[in-house]
Amino acid sequence: MLQAAGPRTVKVPGGKSTLKLSDITEDASRLADFADHEQVWLGRDEERGLTAIVAVHDTTLGPALGGTRVWPHENFEAALTDALRLSHGMTLKAAVAGLALGGGKAVIVADARSDKSLRLLDAYAEMLAALEGQYITAEDVGLSLEDADYLRARTPNVTGTTRGGSGNPSPVTAQGVFLGIKAALKHQSGSEKLDGVRVAVQGLGAVGWSLAKRLRNEGARLSVSDIEPARADKAVTHLDAVALEGDAITTADVDIFAPCALGAVLSETTIPLLKAGIVAGSANNQLATPQDAERLRARGILYAPDYVINAGGLINVAEELTPPGYDADAAMKRVGVIPRTLGAIFRRAEAEGRTTDAVAETIALEYIESARAKKARRAKSAR
Ligand code: NAI
Repeated sequence: MLQAAGPRTVKVPGGKSTLKLSDITEDASRLADFADHEQVWLGRDEERGLTAIVAVHDTTLGPALGGTRVWPHENFEAALTDALRLSHGMTLKAAVAGLALGGGKAVIVADARSDKSLRLLDAYAEMLAALEGQYITAEDVGLSLEDADYLRARTPNVTGTTRGGSGNPSPVTAQGVFLGIKAALKHQSGSEKLDGVRVAVQGLGAVGWSLAKRLRNEGARLSVSDIEPARADKAVTHLDAVALEGDAITTADVDIFAPCALGAVLSETTIPLLKAGIVAGSANNQLATPQDAERLRARGILYAPDYVINAGGLINVAEELTPPGYDADAAMKRVGVIPRTLGAIFRRAEAEGRTTDAVAETIALEYIESARAKKARRAKSAR
């Protein structure tokens, strides 16, 4: 259960006062799953409309990196739960991608369309500056690249900016998903050739469109869907795709299903209807519940864990933090780690009779644990 002891405290910027979690949430026991966070910071500036939570989950591998989400949560506890859950996910994502980064995430409780102002961003920049470099932020839902640029001009702890930074991560994410799909094909059929392979791409936004082009270039036969009909039409015209409407994309008769739109597309309802033998796409949180990983395994469907295959965006912003600074070619090369890691996950999951999702988490935790043990040994010998 979350206690206010030790590092698990909530601080306001500048550390002038320290709040206990029980001061900000009535029922801390409901957040019991998240008892292992190192720091949770609360920033409030009523005058400038800021209520922000920065959750630092784990910094064993390096400073905590994760985007800032601007979202009008229905209450404070929902926002806190979001920040805690997402920062935990970032720790696993960075670790499994082999990055020297920890996991963090921030939530600004506001409606990005009506509440976000330069004054609010000013207040948030001041909060970030007060966090002693423990947290590095980037764009996320509701926080644009322009906002990231604005923050970066005021505090150094911002990455993924456009001015001299890594900018739009989507092409790198798409490349990682593309290579991940090939790794899944290779594991399943012994060949990574896409020629004639049938792929259903759900969502033709920044990542989905870039992925669809890559797949088509290597001869894949595409089925696509997007709630914006013009995007699907474009794929029909330029990529020789078949456009499907609504849920038909989930149950399409294809070899691979690539969810690149929404979360929770793999559920008790959809999994029994899938015809694809592989699920590999960019969407975050594809499993509606953790049990859905087992449902996929039981049906013999090879699932590329979302946070492993979509790590290209994180690898891209991490490249910005690596001296001498951002290099687009280097970032594209670094996503080569994704197919290698997925291959290892697929083999181990098969050998151990476990889900790919469970194995991905084990690999991330083993990596963190070994880094922690190394640090402890170094500290001991320095004494
Ligand atoms: P986007 O907003 O550019 O594209 C999403 C597309 O999905 C849009 O074209 C939208 O119209 C479509 N869409 C929404 N609901 C749909 C539905 N029910 N059926 C079919 N299409 C639907 O987003 P982006 O950047 O391409 O990201 C796609 C997914 O990948 C998201 O889940 C995102 O969180 C995830 N992701 C993106 C990364 C990036 O680098 N952009 C990095 C890691 C994850």
